[in-house]
Amino acid sequence: MNVIETNGITKSFGKQQVLKGISFSVKKGEIFTLLGENGAGKSTLINILTTLSKPSGGFAKVFDHDLQQDPDQIRHLISLNSQSITLDDEFTGYQNLRLIAKLLGITNIKGRIDSVSTSLNLTEFINNKVSTYSGGMKRRLDIAASLSADTDLLFLDEPSTGVDPKNRLEIWKIIKELRDQGKTIFLTTQYLDEADRLSDRIAFIHDGKISLIGTPQQLKQQAHHRQQIMVPQASIKLASQALAAKGINFNIHEQAIELDEANLQLALKTLLTADIMINETTPIDLTLEEVFLNATTEDPEE
Ligand SMILES: Nc1ncnc2c1ncn2[C@@H]1O[C@H](COP(=O)(O)OP(=O)(O)OP(=O)(O)O)[C@@H](O)[C@H]1O
Ligand SMILES: [Mg+2]
Repeated sequence: MNVIETNGITKSFGKQQVLKGISFSVKKGEIFTLLGENGAGKSTLINILTTLSKPSGGFAKVFDHDLQQDPDQIRHLISLNSQSITLDDEFTGYQNLRLIAKLLGITNIKGRIDSVSTSLNLTEFINNKVSTYSGGMKRRLDIAASLSADTDLLFLDEPSTGVDPKNRLEIWKIIKELRDQGKTIFLTTQYLDEADRLSDRIAFIHDGKISLIGTPQQLKQQAHHRQQIMVPQASIKLASQALAAKGINFNIHEQAIELDEANLQLALKTLLTADIMINETTPIDLTLEEVFLNATTEDPEE
């Protein structure tokens, strides 16, 4: 079942077209990550999907409700942890959470606050003023506030930006626990390792479009552009000469011949013709970072 479906979403601010036709769907119970550089349009898309801003064009459904026609229905079914922290510094953590719980009309306020503050490790300083919190503590309190409504769909806009590594691991753990409870998480990040470690699926947003989408594993495999050929060590020199004579681009790395996938057939044929034994041919796994760079680097010939 799809919790979110978008079709051709566009958004312009004046003459600047930030989103140029975004289509994807998010399945129930997955951690779906929108990965993109600063200014790629992640928050713009989150604002649209959470009904805070209207798209310039296209359609979207959240829990089968049309974004344009039923925004009020959608608002009751989602929570948003926005990129800028929305806490009152002069209140304690507890007072902030109580205010939000009251606004949401939650009945068992104390029970709910105890539950969210325990799961985010906030109990120790929940009665201190927020002005005394560190950035990571504030971020966790802000996430706790967005969990108050206990909705099945949660939008987290860069939840770990500005958070130290230890607290980031805590936040990842909480996000996974929420997913394991059956909630759907729509996350944005500019951190590749975060997307890789946390996501069930990742969508790269670049130049206003989704340039790649898939599981972290699929994305890494999808981009198998390089192959390596293993030959006996004694044949490396001869192999290099044979490939160079055919004008094939390659490089030698740790006794393997590495080359573009497009040249693989010709290279194998060349080596066999030169009577060189081939031990193994394997695709080279790219890191998510390399996939990301490939997807975001403009083709100079375009
Ligand atoms: N309300 C607005 N008015 C004008 N331009 C806007 C507005 N909101 C966003 N933009 C522009 O749209 C582009 C995308 O911004 P957005 O905040 O969606 O990026 P982002 O991917 O969330 O970046 P970051 O990682 O820095 O949070 C930017 O060029 C930004 O200046
Ligand atoms: Mg943003």
